[in-house]
Amino acid sequence: FWSHVEMGPPDAILGITEAYKKDPDSRKVNLGAGAYRDDNGKPYVLNCVRQADQRLIDKQLDKEYLPISGTAEFCERSIKLALGDDSQVIANGSNATVQGISGTGSLRIGAAFLNSFFPGNKVVYLPIPSWGNHTPIFKHARLDVKSYRFYDPNTCGFDFKGAMEDISKIPEGSIILLHACAHNPTGVDPNPQQWAEMSALIKKKNLFPFLDMAYQGFASGDINKDAAAVRMFVNDGHEIALAQSFAKNMGLYGERAGAFTVVTKSKEEAAKVLSQIKILIRPMYSNPPLHGARIVNEILGDKELRMEWLKEVKGMADRIISVRTKLRENLKKEGSSRNWQHITDQIGMFCFTGMTPQHVERLTKDFHIYLTKDGRISMAGVTSKNVEYLAHAMHQVTK
Ligand code: LMR
Repeated sequence: FWSHVEMGPPDAILGITEAYKKDPDSRKVNLGAGAYRDDNGKPYVLNCVRQADQRLIDKQLDKEYLPISGTAEFCERSIKLALGDDSQVIANGSNATVQGISGTGSLRIGAAFLNSFFPGNKVVYLPIPSWGNHTPIFKHARLDVKSYRFYDPNTCGFDFKGAMEDISKIPEGSIILLHACAHNPTGVDPNPQQWAEMSALIKKKNLFPFLDMAYQGFASGDINKDAAAVRMFVNDGHEIALAQSFAKNMGLYGERAGAFTVVTKSKEEAAKVLSQIKILIRPMYSNPPLHGARIVNEILGDKELRMEWLKEVKGMADRIISVRTKLRENLKKEGSSRNWQHITDQIGMFCFTGMTPQHVERLTKDFHIYLTKDGRISMAGVTSKNVEYLAHAMHQVTK
């Protein structure tokens, strides 16, 4: 039956971790997938998560199926986190929110919903570049994928002019994907004024904004500041779709906790949309997993745990900001004459270094440093212990 099946390539991001694990060299460093490490390079389980876990054990909960749309309380708390406690949309009940299987699963539900019900042009416009999984997710749901300019390789910053030009040419009634904060892979975000202008243009062109918020709290350390773009779009009257992930900001990677929301015009519309999303979910995976959402629910619903969480997210964000400075300083110490200012200008988990695939190949081959081919470094894997070695290697391959 299967002799015709050819070997597929490894995943551009998760395949890096597989390659890293196979490398026996003791100097090896994994800066591929965006997964936070403490300053000893170890995976970090947040204190608030450990406490929530313990509380859940103490409660001796059962393992019954969740509803197709997940835990209602988790959904309410997730969307409140995104839109804010005073959100009019939530007060009106005009959001349809379901629990998703982390960010990817939430995006995939959204893609399925758009494929079935989007009344306009079923084409999703992605920024160049975008997260490597965006294109496969939308294509898998049989949506067309096109792009708009976002990153300027000359400045290693946001190409606002290029983005506005390209967005103004997108056919009316199409779908546009926006990274809500901490753009992956570039770490480059529009400023508030630029967001406002983009929102106005997107409104004028009657585009449907699909916001992917995988890093709320991780960009600035402040969950409200990081949700500003999402809230601005909603306040500007857009009916948005929103994918949320708790992988990074609560360190719940493998627990697969996330949420998908469609903001509609009314409570009645939201109920109809929700009913259809449930019909799409049922044959895909029936209903979502219990544990990750229970942890999130426990943390968001408890004053003390929530405070602890906010402190810990800020701690993670601050550690990344501090290693950005250290990496730049060490590159200077190595004698690099390149301008590495973007390392500290960019935000969130990643640094889009500007290194070429050839540089990356040498980093991996000669220095056992693993990162994606596009030159993206997961800053979350850089520590005070490996930063000198990384700077040395980066200088050696780029000088
Ligand atoms: C990443 O971009 O490294 C993360 O979002 C992990 C993933 O699933 O790709």
